[in-house]
Amino acid sequence: MKLPEQFQALVVDEKGDGVEASLQTLTFDDLPDGDVTIKVHYSSVNYKDGLASIKGGNIVKEYPFVPGIDLAGEVVQSEDDRYNEGDHVIVTSYELGVSHYGGYSEYARVPGEWIVPLPEGLTMKEAMTFGTAGFTAALSIDKMERNGQEPSQGKVLVSGATGGVGSMAVAMLAQKGYEVAASTGKPEENYLTQLGASEVLSREDVTPEKIRSLGKQKWAGAVDPVGGETLAAILSNTQYDGNVAVSGLTAGVKVPTTVFPFILRSVNLLGIDSVYYPQEKRVKLWERLASDLKPETLLEEMTETITMSELPDKLSEILRSQTRGRTVVQIGS
Ligand SMILES: NC(=O)c1ccc[n+]([C@@H]2O[C@H](COP(=O)([O-])OP(=O)(O)OC[C@H]3O[C@@H](n4cnc5c(N)ncnc54)[C@H](OP(=O)(O)O)[C@@H]3O)[C@@H](O)[C@H]2O)c1
Repeated sequence: MKLPEQFQALVVDEKGDGVEASLQTLTFDDLPDGDVTIKVHYSSVNYKDGLASIKGGNIVKEYPFVPGIDLAGEVVQSEDDRYNEGDHVIVTSYELGVSHYGGYSEYARVPGEWIVPLPEGLTMKEAMTFGTAGFTAALSIDKMERNGQEPSQGKVLVSGATGGVGSMAVAMLAQKGYEVAASTGKPEENYLTQLGASEVLSREDVTPEKIRSLGKQKWAGAVDPVGGETLAAILSNTQYDGNVAVSGLTAGVKVPTTVFPFILRSVNLLGIDSVYYPQEKRVKLWERLASDLKPETLLEEMTETITMSELPDKLSEILRSQTRGRTVVQIGS
C-alpha cells in the first residue's frame, strides 16, 4: 500500500509551565519503533487520555507525545508473520498512549504482541465504542462470574454509572439478566434506565457522610470504577460472599475501610487491571465482547462520535466528569 509522506496527529507538547494539545503534521520517522504499522480509523476517549493531556496527570513522562490508549484500524505494513496488509485490528493497553505514541494519529506503529485481531461480529467503530472502558467493564463482569456471581443472587451495583466503564457495565449486566442498581452524580435517570438499570441512586445514597464498617447487605456484587470512599461504602453494604470488582479511582485512591466486610461477611474484593491482562485471555474476552457481552441495541445510545479537532475540549470535559457514556473519535477523514 502506498503511504502518504505526512499525516495528522494530536500532539501534546510543553508550553510555558503547562502543556498544550494541538493537531500537528507528522511523518513516519516520528513514529516509535514497532513491527506493525496501522492506518487508524477510530480511537476513543478514556479518563486516562484526559490525564495524558494535562501537566501533572502522571501518565506522560516525555514530550512531545501523541495520546490515545485505544485504536482500531487496518494494517498497512507488517514485519510480524501473524498480521498482513489489510487486516483489521484493535490495539489497547500496554504502553499505548502512555509512553508509546497512541491512537490520536492517522497512523500508528506498534509491537505485534499488543495487537488483537478484530473479532467477527464487531466493526472497528463498535470496537472503539467498547475501547478500554468496555474491555474493563467486561473484565470486571468476567472475573465476578468466575468467582461465582449469578443473577439469582440479587442486585448488582454499578458506581460512576454514567462514565465509560460504568455505562458499559450497566448495559452488559442488564443484558446478562442481572438486576442493576446504578449510582451517579448526574441527573441521568432516563439514560441509565434505557441502558437497563432498574434502580438509579445518587452518589450520596451509596456513599453517606459516615461510612459504617458493616451496613445493610444491599448488593450481591458491584462494579466499581470509582474507588475511594465509594468503595469503602460498597464493601460495607455487600452481601455475604458477594464480589466487588474495583477498577478505578475517580473518587480517590484512599479507601477508608476495615477488615470486617472480609472476615465477617466473606466479601471478595477483585482487582481489575486491563493494561497487562494476558494476551491469550485478552483475545478471548474481545470475542465475548463481540458475542454475549455485546449490548446490541445500546451501543449507539451511549456513544458520541467526534473528530480529532474536537479532542482537546472532550479530553478536558472527561476530567471534569462532564461526559456521558463513551466518546468515539473518527480519525482522519
Ligand atoms: N483498572 C483498569 O485497567 C482501568 C481501565 C479503564 C479505566 N480505569 C479507571 O476507571 C475509572 C473510570 O474510567 P472511565 O474512562 O470510565 O472514566 P469516566 O468516563 O470519566 O467515568 C468516571 C465516572 O466516575 C464518576 N465520578 C467522577 N468523579 C467522581 C467522584 N468524585 N466521586 C464519585 N464518582 C465520581 C462519574 O460518574 P457519575 O457522574 O455517573 O457518578 C464519572 O462519569 C478511571 O479512574 C480510570 O482511570 C481503570
